[in-house]
Amino acid sequence: MAETINEVKFSDEAMAEIQRYISHYPEGRQKSAILPILHIAQAEFGGWVSPEVMDKVAEILNIQPIEVYEVATFYTMFNLKPVGKHVLEVCRTGPCCLRGADQVIEMIKQKLNIEEGETTADGMFTLKPVECLASCGTGPMLQVRELFYENIDSEEKLNEFLKMMRNKEHETPTWKK
Ligand code: FES
Repeated sequence: MAETINEVKFSDEAMAEIQRYISHYPEGRQKSAILPILHIAQAEFGGWVSPEVMDKVAEILNIQPIEVYEVATFYTMFNLKPVGKHVLEVCRTGPCCLRGADQVIEMIKQKLNIEEGETTADGMFTLKPVECLASCGTGPMLQVRELFYENIDSEEKLNEFLKMMRNKEHETPTWKK
């Protein structure tokens, strides 16, 4: 049976995965599963977590909504407003900057006609500079969902990357396979 609250409804597959994570923890400690469950929620509901979705996560975990808001607003990997199909999380920390990350961000802004935090008019891309993604030796780099795209150190490579992404579908989450 799918779980519902107001309009928020997780798929049966997602609920099974959520319950699997909760089962890893002792009774009363289900809050420990909050990070993977927020990731599942974000993947389920268009790449972002609305207040209604966070309220649903709180209900599932039997905790207060504020406890979910605290976590979702602390970690930059959770999007709190609607985003494009592909969220370009460009690392802008020192090592990547030394290799041209700032120029990559500027080129993305110009090519897509958006500023940081904005989404293209066609809903394809959102630009989201972030801090170190632990791939410092292969900068400039960016992340889209769980995948890294590295050594984007020329306009030609950026053009190839954007062209490739326009035709790319996201991987199906493992719990849906
Ligand atoms: S500085 Fe960019 S991945 Fe670490």
